[in-house]
Amino acid sequence: MSDAGAFTAPQRLPAWTALAGHARRLAARPIPALFADDPARAEHLSLHLDTPAAPGRSALIADFSKQRLDGDALADLFRLAREARLDDGIRRLFAGEAVNFTENRAAAHMAMRGGCPPPPGRGGDTRAMRAFALALRRGELTGASGKTLRRLINIGIGGSDLGPRLAVEALAIPGGGDGALQVDFVANIDPRELDAALARADAAATLFVVSSKSFGTAETLANASAARRWLCAALGEKAGIGAHFAAISNAPEAAAAFGIPPERVFPLPEWVGGRYSVWSATGLPLLAAIGEAAFDAFLAGGRTMDEHFRSAPFARNLPVWLGLAGLWNASFLHIQNLAALPYAHGLRSFPAWLQQLEMESNGKRTLRDGSQTEAATAPIVWGGAGTVGQHAFHQLLYQGTRAAALDFIVPVGEDEPRQRALVDNALAQSAALMAGRALDAARAALAHRGLPAAEIERLAPHLTSTGGQPSTTLLLPRLDAFHLGVLLALYEHKVFVEGWIWGINPFDQYGVELGKEMARALAAGEAGAQDASTARLARLAEAFRQTGRTEKK
Ligand code: F6P
Repeated sequence: MSDAGAFTAPQRLPAWTALAGHARRLAARPIPALFADDPARAEHLSLHLDTPAAPGRSALIADFSKQRLDGDALADLFRLAREARLDDGIRRLFAGEAVNFTENRAAAHMAMRGGCPPPPGRGGDTRAMRAFALALRRGELTGASGKTLRRLINIGIGGSDLGPRLAVEALAIPGGGDGALQVDFVANIDPRELDAALARADAAATLFVVSSKSFGTAETLANASAARRWLCAALGEKAGIGAHFAAISNAPEAAAAFGIPPERVFPLPEWVGGRYSVWSATGLPLLAAIGEAAFDAFLAGGRTMDEHFRSAPFARNLPVWLGLAGLWNASFLHIQNLAALPYAHGLRSFPAWLQQLEMESNGKRTLRDGSQTEAATAPIVWGGAGTVGQHAFHQLLYQGTRAAALDFIVPVGEDEPRQRALVDNALAQSAALMAGRALDAARAALAHRGLPAAEIERLAPHLTSTGGQPSTTLLLPRLDAFHLGVLLALYEHKVFVEGWIWGINPFDQYGVELGKEMARALAAGEAGAQDASTARLARLAEAFRQTGRTEKK
C-alpha cells in the first residue's frame, strides 16, 4: 500500500472474499447463539489496556463479544489487516511519513502528546501557548482597563471547537469555584450562540481565543469580527483590544491583520489535522480550564494508547479490534450507522466529536489509486448520552426496522447510587438490545401483569423485539484526564485502521469545499451560479428579510 502502483483495493484481497462468506453465514444468526457456541466468548473477545504506572490494573476494558462475530470471522479480519499491510501503515504513521497522501503530509498528532517524534516544521513547540494559558488560569493577565481576565470565549468550529469543548465539559469542575476562569465555546455563525456567551460576559474581563488553523473559516471570522465590535462598543474604540484576543492558528499573518498581537498567536503544525488537534495549541482553553497537571495527564493517556497501538500484536491491539469491528459492520454486515452511547454527562459532546472524526476522516469513496471503492466506508455516526437517549431514541433500536452498531462508553466512577444506576443501565441496554424479546417472553411478561388471555394475545406482538443490535462496550475506571486521553486516542487510531484498510485518506477533507464555494457564490449574489430551486429560495429568503425590515420599522 506504499504507493499507487503497489496498491490493491481491499476487495481484491483474498481475505475480503472469505469475510463476505462469513457475513452470509452469520447475518441471520442470533448473537446469543454465538454465546452458546462458545461459553467463554466474553473472555475470548475482550481486551484490556494496562495502566502504565500500575501494570495489572486496567485503564480500559473493551468487550467485543456482543458483536456479530465469531472466531473464524475474526481470524479472517486479522488476515485482511495483514494482507492490507496494516503493520506497514502503523509504522509509516508513527515514522512521520506522508500518510496524508493527497496533501503529501505526515499525520503526526501523536507527536503533540509525545507518542512519536515531531516531523520538521513549526508549531510542535507548545511552550509559549502553555505559558499564556497558565498565566491566564492564575489570573495574571489583564484586559485594556487593567481588569483581570476571568472569562475565555473560544471562537472556532469543527476541529477547532469539538475536541476542546468535549474535553472541557468532561474535565473542568462545573462553575470552577470563586474566581475560577470561566470557559465558553462559540461555533455557530448563528448570532444567538455568540450573543448567549456575551450575555454572560464582562467585556473588561473577557479574552477571546480565535481558534482557526487556517484563519480563513467564514463562521469563525464572522464571529471574531462580531466579538471585536462588541468589545469596541463596550470598552471604546481607542482601548487596546489586542489585550482581549489570542489566536490559535498557523496563519500568523492573517491573525496579525485581524489585530491579534503576534506573541499571542499560537501555531499548530501542518501535520496536525483540525479534528486531531485537541492535543496541540488548540487545547489552550482546556489547559486554562483544568491546569497543567491534568492537561499532562490527558496527553499521557493519549500517549499510552499510542504506545499500545504501535507495539501490541493485532490479536491484543485495541484500535485494531475497534477498527476491524467497525469495518466488519459497515462493509460486510452493511450496517450503515454507528451510535455512540457514552454513559456520562461529561461525554455528552462525544458523539459530535466522533461524528467529525469518523465522517470527515473516512466519509470518502476515492481510493489511493484514484479508483472508486466498491465497499461501504464510514458509517453515519450519531448518538447521545445515556441514560437520556433511552427515553428518546432507544425505542427505534428495540423495535424499529433498522440495524445499528452501538458503542457503549462507560466510565464506572464513584460508588454512588446514581453512578451505579448509570452503569447498570448501560450494561442492561447492551444486553437487551442484543437479546431482544421473543413472542413467548412477551406473553410471559404480560401474564405476569395478570392480564386476561385474549389481551395477552392481542398485545404480545407489540412487546416483541428482534434484538441483534451488535455492540462494543468500553469500560473505563472513571472519567478523568488520563482516561479521556486514552479514549480519544483509541478512536483516532481506530479511524486510521479503517482508512488504511479501505484504502482511503483519513486526513484530508476536500469534500466540504464544494458547499463553501456555493455559499460564497450566494453571498456574492452571483447570478446563474445556482440551480432553479436554490436561486428561488434565495429570492424568497431576501423577501422575508425585507418584510422583517419593514415590520421592525
Ligand atoms: O471545513 C472543514 C474544516 O476545515 C475542518 O476540517 C476543520 O476542523 C474546520 O473546518 C475548522 O477549520 P479551521 O480550524 O481552519 O478554522
